[in-house]
Amino acid sequence: YVIGIDLGTSAVKALLLDRSGAVAGEATREYPLFHEHSGWSEQRPDDWVEGTLGAIAELIRSSAIAPETIEGISFSGQMHGLVLLDGEGNPVRNAILWNDTRTTAECREIEQTLGAGLLAITRNPALEGFTLPKILWVRKHEPERFAQAELFLLPKDYVRYRLTGALHMDYSDAAGTLLLDVAGKKWSPDVLASFGLDESFCPPLVESHAQVGTLLPQQAERAGLGAGTKVFAGGADNACGAIGSGILQEGLTMCSIGTSGVILSYEGGSGHDYAGKVHFFNHGKQDAFYAMGVTLAAGYSLSWFKNTFAKVESFDELLAGIELVAPGANGLLFTPYLVGERTPHADSVIRGSFIGIDGSHERKHFARAVMEGITFSLNESVVLFRQAGKTVDTIISIGGGAQNPVWLQMQADIFNADVVALENEQGPGLGAAMLAAYGSGWFESLDACAERFVKRASVYKPQQAAVDAYAGLFHIYQQVYARTRDLN
Ligand code: XUL
Repeated sequence: YVIGIDLGTSAVKALLLDRSGAVAGEATREYPLFHEHSGWSEQRPDDWVEGTLGAIAELIRSSAIAPETIEGISFSGQMHGLVLLDGEGNPVRNAILWNDTRTTAECREIEQTLGAGLLAITRNPALEGFTLPKILWVRKHEPERFAQAELFLLPKDYVRYRLTGALHMDYSDAAGTLLLDVAGKKWSPDVLASFGLDESFCPPLVESHAQVGTLLPQQAERAGLGAGTKVFAGGADNACGAIGSGILQEGLTMCSIGTSGVILSYEGGSGHDYAGKVHFFNHGKQDAFYAMGVTLAAGYSLSWFKNTFAKVESFDELLAGIELVAPGANGLLFTPYLVGERTPHADSVIRGSFIGIDGSHERKHFARAVMEGITFSLNESVVLFRQAGKTVDTIISIGGGAQNPVWLQMQADIFNADVVALENEQGPGLGAAMLAAYGSGWFESLDACAERFVKRASVYKPQQAAVDAYAGLFHIYQQVYARTRDLN
């Protein structure tokens, strides 16, 4: 067996897989988020560690398997979150998370300081969520705490450090810090020097499938595992989501609709040039990359609508009847900018809209319009990929957006691509477990592991009439941003 740990923003999930890739058990632990001020989002790093140990212990208990049959464990982590450690290896403050937006001034400072070097080296724009702006914020606003900090880590790296005593970071997560020379796979001396940071502030870099140690005896005992259990580095949640859905070759793209939404496409070689319009990160597969666009309020928009207006308990109730509404929701159009937008606008101030409301519209029209608006937003990323010369004809759909056949068909029609749903899809936790399986030597390559573990269930083909209807609506959708940005 292997264990994949998915360290998310609201909870950690431990997934147990056998050699055939079948799920033999899972356990989840939640932990709190702290929003001390508007736009702030923090967590206590030790809550992640306790949650992870608790989830593994429950997994072992409930699956009733012998701990020594577990060969390896690896991680998928929420990206970008800043953990600052003092000389003893203890956090000097709470972690500042990816969805914290306090760092706009630091982003402008990074752009001014690095100029064209920012894109050339890091392949990404400076966004509030990324790690370097958070480091600069702490240095400016909490100098006494910053003075204690000797090293920084990302969330899953801190958990792995507590479990093994070893300090590392993998390339896929390091790519989201703005400190990595993404193509050169090393901490950028230029970026570090530009901000007066020393390389000793950054942990050693490793591949995602690299073994970084074994469990410390005391932690192994708490988790109910053997002390010799091998620990593999793991990767960023989006990289692990890509691995877990088999996005390991040029031509494959993933659509993940959770709270936020992601369109992610494999990039071999040196990759296409997106001029910073989408993210470009190292993959969890060695020497590969991926490009990614993000919709901040994807599933969140639908939950918001359900909780605020629909007054129903479940998504099944909310979505009952949407298949009776034709594409276009009878003239009702929604933009999902409830908390701002990332791709293509990188605008934290813009807000969403319903347009074209008719007295005859019912809940099902609104629900369908929200799903269409989320999918239009994701299509903006598909369009950017195609504009850069990529072929996007097969999209593996995962997350909440893959649970509903109407939504899957809608994705095929709006993206104008084949949309594939997976059997027993497990998201980033599966990718993490696959890194442990490959790292443990079960397979010759990650690709061979994916062939065995990632199973396609069904394909949704674009229907021409709907493709045409949506193409017209998407054109209107794209104009709403510019027309509404002065509203607030
Ligand atoms: C990616 C990003 C989010 C987090 C969520 O850039 O900010 O997808 O990785 O955990």
